[in-house]
Amino acid sequence: MRAPSTDREAVLAEVPGGGAGRPTVATIDLDALAHNYAEVCARIRGRKVLAMVKAQAYGHGAVAVSRRLADLGVAMFGVALVEEGIELRRAGISQPILVMSPVFPGQAEAVIEAGLTPVVFNAPLARALSEAAVKAGVSQPVHVKVDTGMGRLGMSPEDAADLVPVIAGLPGIVVEGVMTHFADADLRDKQFAAAQMDRFEKFLRAIEERGVSVPLRHAANSAAVLEYDRALFTMVRPGIMLYGCNPLESGVDAGLRPVLSLRTRIAFLKKLPAGTPVSYGRTFVTKRESLIATVPLGYADGYRRGLSNRGEMLVRGQRAAVAGRVCMDMTMLDVTDVPGVAEGDDVVAIGSQEKERITADEIASRTGTISYEVLCGISSRVPRSYV
Ligand SMILES: Cc1ncc(COP(=O)(O)O)c(C=O)c1O
Repeated sequence: MRAPSTDREAVLAEVPGGGAGRPTVATIDLDALAHNYAEVCARIRGRKVLAMVKAQAYGHGAVAVSRRLADLGVAMFGVALVEEGIELRRAGISQPILVMSPVFPGQAEAVIEAGLTPVVFNAPLARALSEAAVKAGVSQPVHVKVDTGMGRLGMSPEDAADLVPVIAGLPGIVVEGVMTHFADADLRDKQFAAAQMDRFEKFLRAIEERGVSVPLRHAANSAAVLEYDRALFTMVRPGIMLYGCNPLESGVDAGLRPVLSLRTRIAFLKKLPAGTPVSYGRTFVTKRESLIATVPLGYADGYRRGLSNRGEMLVRGQRAAVAGRVCMDMTMLDVTDVPGVAEGDDVVAIGSQEKERITADEIASRTGTISYEVLCGISSRVPRSYV
């Protein structure tokens, strides 16, 4: 007998009621994604776009997002991990894929086999790739990362200026790109970003003087695409703005549309007398006779526990406060003031309902984090539904 599949979709298909059994779903609006991509294009006057789709396209689902962006003409995709790149290749994505996080020398063969483009930030990795490329009989493109002030990956501009010609001379290696990353281009004050640009431009001049010509030069994340023209070079690398969130301190309206909404339904509704505690630790106690709704969305789904007694969700177009601690799989809402509320009602944790809207940014500010973490944190057990 064949062993039952452990693949999530297959398991759901075997469960009576299937995936429809639990109404907690992240809905991904691919037209909103296309709109945000158009907003990127409108600002970059013909430069290429590398779309950041790492971490499952910031929680939106890397394959579906990449397919739509590929149809729209994106030049390149950015992932963090080699595995993420392989997943896209298996899904038929044929555009170049840049692997941003450290590739280890032991992964050189896998990179070459999948046709990925690694970011190179030191000589040992460049040599390992060169050896593997020669063995495979291929010409392997790489992008060299220069640290101009982020203090994360990358060689100093001075070392990079010396090393890029060496790397470019390695057999089997083509330096297709050079790049740097901003530490704080989202701030109104662009002084530090300008210092990073000074260093990067100096490095670009230095390699040019050494006779190395590199077609792709890139630095701009979403913040720079939105607010810092100097960083556009020949390609840009937006992430969060594609998903409809605005990273700028200034918060100026960038005309973006949120792509993801997180929805569920009321599973259970009960009336509790005044003085009744709700959830772990009894941190919420009803002050009056209250209607408390239980929704099947908890911190294991990515609805952060920091939203305990702090978050709100939308029910019948109205905000309802989280009552007590968020549990692993469920959260309670005080729906006493929602007229007509009933079991089965739609609940929106992120997204809009009638005239109300809760954004990933709102959740982030209520929990002391950033929209990126809220979106990436929506766990893999929440099915993504594409519209
Ligand atoms: C190297 C690199 N480039 C570009 C981006 C995209 O940044 P954002 O999502 O702020 O546009 C990231 C995101 O973390 C990154 O690590």
